[in-house]
Amino acid sequence: MNPFLFSVLLFTSFLACKSQQNPETQALTSIKQNLHDPLGALTGWDPTTPLAPDQFASLTSLRKISLRSNFFNGTLPHSLAKCTLLRAVFLQYNSFSGNLPPEISNLTNLQVLNIAQNRFSGEIPRSLPVSLKYLDLSSNTFSGSIPSSISDLAQLQLINLSYNQFSGSIPASFGQLQSLEYLWLDYNVLEGTLPSAIANCSSLVHFSANGNSLGGLIPAAIGELPKLAVVSAFRK
Ligand SMILES: *[C@@H]1O[C@H](CO)[C@@H](O)[C@H](O)[C@H]1NC(C)=O
Ligand SMILES: *[C@@H]1O[C@H](CO)[C@@H](O)[C@H](O)[C@H]1NC(C)=O
Ligand SMILES: *[C@@H]1O[C@H](CO)[C@@H](O)[C@H](O)[C@H]1NC(C)=O
Ligand SMILES: *[C@@H]1O[C@H](CO)[C@@H](O)[C@H](O)[C@H]1NC(C)=O
Repeated sequence: MNPFLFSVLLFTSFLACKSQQNPETQALTSIKQNLHDPLGALTGWDPTTPLAPDQFASLTSLRKISLRSNFFNGTLPHSLAKCTLLRAVFLQYNSFSGNLPPEISNLTNLQVLNIAQNRFSGEIPRSLPVSLKYLDLSSNTFSGSIPSSISDLAQLQLINLSYNQFSGSIPASFGQLQSLEYLWLDYNVLEGTLPSAIANCSSLVHFSANGNSLGGLIPAAIGELPKLAVVSAFRK
């Protein structure tokens, strides 16, 4: 959703619900008031009542959030985890910071999480929603190791962890991800060798891990994957 649509959505939702004090309207107002909005993308919306900072807690019907490319900053409120019907979150190209709250694992319908190109940091939660199909955490400053529990995300089709500070080795458990098509690990500080278990990812189309400190050879079995089009892992 572009910024204009988001403001229209806020506005129409407000008009429709003003007289009934709809809690979703109140929550949307609160979100707007807590965003630093340098482009003025939300100026068409004139909130009247100051509200509590627990912005997302009342948005229990929300299916999709798209706030991309707005220079928004601030942290991701833990109350986001209350929006349990959420299927897609697009926050890429902003300046959000802080950790990815562990409560995110409560979003059991979440299929798309794109928070690329922000300033998120810290380790990624050991537990993420098993419904995820598309996970893009690229171009942030996440650190720590890639949890081997990544294999719990059995429906993953794309994972992009590029341009972060992930360290340690590439977990062999990636090999259990039978739906995985795109695996991007470029420009982190990963070391060790490429696990031969990757050759078990039967749907893999793209694997890249350039700009890390990996050693050894690319396991020959990876070359036999039927759909694989790109394998790239040059060192820094
Ligand atoms: C967001 O940006 C504003 C304006 O530059 C700044 O005052 C504020 O401290 C920033 N907040 C965070 C959490 O970075
Ligand atoms: C997440 O779910 C657990 C139980 O499944 C619950 O105790 C907890 O309050 C939830 N957290 C949030 C932020 O909704
Ligand atoms: C993965 O992330 C990098 C850096 O943000 C980006 O250049 C690349 O296009 C992304 N790949 C996909 C498939 O989205
Ligand atoms: C290879 O894939 C199968 C599922 O087809 C899975 O049961 C097994 O654990 C995987 N092996 C490795 C080494 O990941």
